[in-house]
Amino acid sequence: MARQIPHGAQGFVVELGGGTGAVTRAILASGIPPEQLVVVERDPMLHKHLVERFPGVRILLGDALHLPSLLKRHGVVPVAAIVSSLPLLSLKKSIQLRIGAQAFAVLEPGAPFIQFTYGLFSPLPRNRLGIVGEVEERVLQNLPPASVWRYMRPAGRLSRNHSRSKLDHAA
Ligand SMILES: C[S@@+](CC[C@H](N)C(=O)[O-])C[C@H]1O[C@@H](n2cnc3c(N)ncnc32)[C@H](O)[C@@H]1O
Repeated sequence: MARQIPHGAQGFVVELGGGTGAVTRAILASGIPPEQLVVVERDPMLHKHLVERFPGVRILLGDALHLPSLLKRHGVVPVAAIVSSLPLLSLKKSIQLRIGAQAFAVLEPGAPFIQFTYGLFSPLPRNRLGIVGEVEERVLQNLPPASVWRYMRPAGRLSRNHSRSKLDHAA
């Protein structure tokens, strides 16, 4: 997942669902400086754990369902990439759509949304969000095997307005 972050990304890298910090550690190891990384975790115990484990990283206690307001409150702009470990496939389609729309409402034009999944199918509804995306890596050594998806707005539809209108619809 960390490998999918664009080299020299200008702006913040936002990780959704930091959990115990395995992906956070990999993002830092890939060369993203701690001050460029912002982690969102909604579980208070895991949030506390992440704060203690990564003192130089901004760890926000909050819900990815309210991403634009959460990031705005903390001055996190612009967003150059989102790396998500959220369990999207276990969520209702309407919630997947809402999380996707929230994410693309904050991502800069051309910036990727990176997601891992154990499922065979896209964890985000691409058509309904007006985005493109495909599997970039398959990790067969993982049990169960995992895939890393990378989503973006299609070239020619680089404004954030499209996703905003989807967000209104989804809300
Ligand atoms: C699969 S686990 C994370 C795995 C993580 N990469 C790790 O190394 O532990 C998913 C995480 O997403 C968090 N989460 C689930 N829904 C969320 C939401 N709507 N907003 C923010 N965090 C959420 C859970 O609390 C959990 O920590």
